[in-house]
Amino acid sequence: MQQVKAVIARAKGQPVELVTINVPDPGPGEALVQVQACGVCHTDLHYREGGINDDFPFLLGHEAAGVVEAVGPDVTGIAPGDFVILNWRAVCGECRACKRGDLQYCFNTHNATQKMTLADGPDAGTELSPALGIGAFAEKTLVAAGQCTKVDPSARAAAVGLLGCGVMAGIGAAINTGGVTRGRSVAVIGCGGVGVAAIAGSALAGASPIIAVDISAKKLEAAKRLGATHTVDSSQVDAIEEIKRICAETYDGADGADVVIEAVGRPETWKQAFYARDLAGTVVLVGVPTPDMKVPDLPLIDVFGRGGSLKSSWYGDCLPDRDFPMLVDLYQQGRLDLDAFVTEEIGIDDIEAAFDKMHDGDVLRSVVIL
Ligand SMILES: NC(=O)c1ccc[n+]([C@@H]2O[C@H](COP(=O)([O-])OP(=O)(O)OC[C@H]3O[C@@H](n4cnc5c(N)ncnc54)[C@H](O)[C@@H]3O)[C@@H](O)[C@H]2O)c1
Ligand SMILES: [Zn+2]
Ligand SMILES: [Zn+2]
Repeated sequence: MQQVKAVIARAKGQPVELVTINVPDPGPGEALVQVQACGVCHTDLHYREGGINDDFPFLLGHEAAGVVEAVGPDVTGIAPGDFVILNWRAVCGECRACKRGDLQYCFNTHNATQKMTLADGPDAGTELSPALGIGAFAEKTLVAAGQCTKVDPSARAAAVGLLGCGVMAGIGAAINTGGVTRGRSVAVIGCGGVGVAAIAGSALAGASPIIAVDISAKKLEAAKRLGATHTVDSSQVDAIEEIKRICAETYDGADGADVVIEAVGRPETWKQAFYARDLAGTVVLVGVPTPDMKVPDLPLIDVFGRGGSLKSSWYGDCLPDRDFPMLVDLYQQGRLDLDAFVTEEIGIDDIEAAFDKMHDGDVLRSVVIL
């Protein structure tokens, strides 16, 4: 067992705390990873606010890259010294989804079996709940070996670690869930880290036009840098009309985009996506709604009459071992600008400030360097 510094959310709505935790030596099927960089994701804030579940205290952080320090006795796929991105989809290979070949829907993804615990204070020994089964705002973390995906060790940890969650969710929403390819028109509603990643993914796949929609002009600038061909400020103009107009300019007879990706997670933006897609088009919901949200006044005949498909995308329907090494290669070749997502590199004690910055529109990602 080792003791390391880590950032936890002790109780609902309370500021995060830097504490010392106990990290067990890896047992069967586990790996101990020295974390080098970890992005601050909206989901970490959801955990802190009690929006995910009540299993406090949480060990936050889950968009990380680092180096394997040690592995459990039976682990073969990775070894000490390997540079890895951590993932939250270590598929089991045995559940019904895995057996029928839909590994991206695995019902039983693996995490470490042993628990990390608080080291000091009156509640020393309390078990921690790692965010998304990772917990990487820590000098070292214990995960399932399958959560470690080996990639090119010369890649920048702060940039490629972001593939571990939000950036993969966005790219995958476009290319895996939406089936975006050349000759397709795409609109992305909501241009935070996830939406901009969906734009980058659409650009990689050769789509055109790629229309970025947001209510913040700053976010639309970022979207342009990552491959948007058109931008729509939906605080000023009607997003649906604009998307239809732009698509009709490119493709004769088009009445909307072939694929519309919703990356906000709200009923009104999902409804915009629904009506902005062309006949038989695809809507992809990658934004996460809260349980109370409903889509009001949607005539069923519109669902039937417009055909196509209405999909949701969890983690971009990715398979980490298939997708991470490929995307890191594209990054290394200069074809996928992951550096553009890293707005700032921060210390482990700057996470509360990074949460505050999420709301002011300047930051795609703050990345903690360990
Ligand atoms: N499905 C998944 O696996 C997955 C993974 C990670 C994150 N997410 C979710 O994706 C969503 C986006 O995450 P993010 O990190 O990019 O968040 P973010 O807060 O950085 O971005 C949200 C963007 O939406 C814009 N926006 C807000 N209201 C809008 C409106 N009415 N019209 C147009 N744009 C609007 C904001 O200006 C902002 O740019 C969140 O709901 C997050 O929980 C999903
Ligand atoms: Zn499975
Ligand atoms: Zn995340």
